[in-house]
Amino acid sequence: MGLSYLEICGGRPLDGELEIQGSKNAVLPVLAACVPGEGVCTIENCPDITDVTDTLNILRALGYRAERAGGTVRIEASGSEKYEICGPEAVRIRSSVLFLGALLGKMKKARLPLPGGCVIGARPVDLHLRALRTLGAEFSLTEKITAVAPRLHGDTVRLPYPSVGATENVILAAATAEGHTVIEGAAREPEIDELCAFLCLRGADIRRLADGSIHIRGVRRLGPASYRMRPDRIVAGTYLLAAAAAGGRVFLRGCGGEGLEALERALRAMGAVWRKTDGGLEVCAEERPRAVPYLETAPHPGFPTDLQSQLMAALCRARGSSRIRETVFENRFRVVSELRKMGARIEVNGDCARIEGVSRLRPAVLEAADLRGGAGLAIAALQAPGRSAVLHTEYLARGYEDIGRDLCLLGAQARIRGIRCTDETKEKEEYSELQRCL
Ligand code: EPZ
Repeated sequence: MGLSYLEICGGRPLDGELEIQGSKNAVLPVLAACVPGEGVCTIENCPDITDVTDTLNILRALGYRAERAGGTVRIEASGSEKYEICGPEAVRIRSSVLFLGALLGKMKKARLPLPGGCVIGARPVDLHLRALRTLGAEFSLTEKITAVAPRLHGDTVRLPYPSVGATENVILAAATAEGHTVIEGAAREPEIDELCAFLCLRGADIRRLADGSIHIRGVRRLGPASYRMRPDRIVAGTYLLAAAAAGGRVFLRGCGGEGLEALERALRAMGAVWRKTDGGLEVCAEERPRAVPYLETAPHPGFPTDLQSQLMAALCRARGSSRIRETVFENRFRVVSELRKMGARIEVNGDCARIEGVSRLRPAVLEAADLRGGAGLAIAALQAPGRSAVLHTEYLARGYEDIGRDLCLLGAQARIRGIRCTDETKEKEEYSELQRCL
């Protein structure tokens, strides 16, 4: 038992710089893409986050050697014929569903539990199954997904919605299927292009045309490859929004802002200065941002849903009234009740949230309920003079290597703290103590 929390002493502007970790939402499909084929795959700049740890354990359970040495992960294919995923990891993370396409590509069969992930919506997998059926897969659904595809073949897949995961699953299956596959209505997130780049290094034949469609000519074998992950654009966006929220200056070394064009427009509208240099990306901001009259999240190149909670937190002290519409997930306003504890004035009506900017936020003990919501609460805490705590850092650890370390590098007073508790009662006592002493 234990109580872990991110303690932040807020109320002061940021001033610092750091190098952004490798991309979580790119490395997870890239690790699944190590399943088909032979040889050793080396992934550099692999973020040390729990979703990656869980994925490496899934690979090990499938018979692969998976070793980490610092930021580099080495995956060695094996002669393993395993095609079933049983461990707890698969239920914990959403990206375990990507092993469906990877195992169909290699074994022409797969069995795995329905995936987990942050509770930001129902997150069904119907689009994945419908798309893979087009390539010849057949499914039986109980509490597990069982798939067989004796003759996995290329075909034209039309996605009615640009699902990131469904696009990735089709790529993972089609890379070694017989014949040509076209994905129409494919998701355009940059993480998908990283997956394609990695698979092409392994010998796959994949191209994205100007109309966004993805064309895959199945190949018989995939070989070894070495690949360096690009910076995580959502982690970068989180810290850029932190600068807009708390004021000050943030410099992200080696980051070019690729895939953050919608965020750049929003930050400029909020009054921040966005400056790309050859060494990286700098954002400077005054103490309070301007409000954003209206913004909606959307599939790429729209504003990323994964930055919506962080933007909401940054707008809590904006000058004026802002409105955010969340169009991708149906339950991604869970931070609102926590932000209200700090004095934020937010009204939610369906998929829209209206934020009336206030001049000051109060420090508080806050409870994270999902990964990006936790990051949003950290941004809110940076603005509140005094000590705040963001509980349940296990959510943050899913996508941020060490957010306490990063915020300190950016000039904040932040650290991850933990209290070991022997039982539930002790945990409640510690929590009440935390409430009192903050
Ligand atoms: C990926 O999730 C990301 N996760 C998410 O990031 C991100 O928010 C999301 O894409 C959208 O950009 C990873 O890459 C590991 P979707 P994914 O399929 O693939 C519905 C984070 O914080 N849908 O594009 O699950 C779905 O319910 C995480 O890093 C279906 O209805 O996203 C959602 O409403 C959170 N049926 C919408 O589509 C399906 O079969 C977008 O989902 C699949 C999806």
